[in-house]
Amino acid sequence: MSSFSIAWLDLREGADFAARDKTLVTQVLQWLGQAADPVSPDRIIVDLGAGTGSTLRALTKLGANNLVWRLVDLDGKLLDEALRRHGKNCLIEDYQADLNIIGELPLTGAHIISASALFDLASAEFIDALIARIDARKTAIYAALNYDGTTIWSPAHPLDEKVLAAFNQDQRSDKGFGPALGPDCTAYLQQALENKGYTVSVRPSPWQLNAKDAQLQQELINGIAAAVSEGYGLDADELSEWKKFRIANMPDGNCTIGHWDVLALPR
Ligand SMILES: C[S@@+](CC[C@H](N)C(=O)[O-])C[C@H]1O[C@@H](n2cnc3c(N)ncnc32)[C@H](O)[C@@H]1O
Repeated sequence: MSSFSIAWLDLREGADFAARDKTLVTQVLQWLGQAADPVSPDRIIVDLGAGTGSTLRALTKLGANNLVWRLVDLDGKLLDEALRRHGKNCLIEDYQADLNIIGELPLTGAHIISASALFDLASAEFIDALIARIDARKTAIYAALNYDGTTIWSPAHPLDEKVLAAFNQDQRSDKGFGPALGPDCTAYLQQALENKGYTVSVRPSPWQLNAKDAQLQQELINGIAAAVSEGYGLDADELSEWKKFRIANMPDGNCTIGHWDVLALPR
């Protein structure tokens, strides 16, 4: 199951890029430099849940080059778009595949496995199985933009807390990988990677949205309201009032949404 539109991924990309922790990206680029093999100068990065290539664009903008990008996604339309945008300038191998079939993921020879805005959708079981397949002596892992369950709106509204609690409950429902870790993802990932023997760095990468992100905020508000509209005990009229208030306050208000970036390097 996957239903991420190109329009939504484009809309969030600016906020994602601004939020990414640049220190970790520098370490990713250093790792890729160190991992260069004289026999095969191209280093392989496998981007899981690649979408239209947001990680490729972010890392390229920050200095990555001469990489083989293995883009893996269930959604062929998103992969086609990634190829359309970058197929002429980057070495891309696209794999339309379900990440749940871990044994068939194209991880062989990978110097690094990356993902953005993915692991909070995943279950503990998925993360365990993925990490079990990876050679922790050779392959680094860079997992950016994992939602942490915090959302702070300004100005505040009396229903904010209840909406957030419901939304975070929804974030733990099945997003295609079994019960999602949602806000617990970063802590789980960190522990699992440390247990596997990695040196793990974790840095905050919050979205900081204001009037210039009006369209993203509007989609976000609509998405949150839709996600919590049924099954979480919220009154429909109160929720509708919350939504109106949030949209009316976009021009002068702001919103911070917590995410974390994780980098695991072989010891
Ligand atoms: C939130 S989007 C992030 C996309 C991209 N990494 C970005 O940052 O723009 C999650 C991505 O994971 C993909 N995805 C979700 N479930 C999947 C699955 N079971 N197998 C492969 N890809 C999946 C979606 O199609 C989507 O492209």
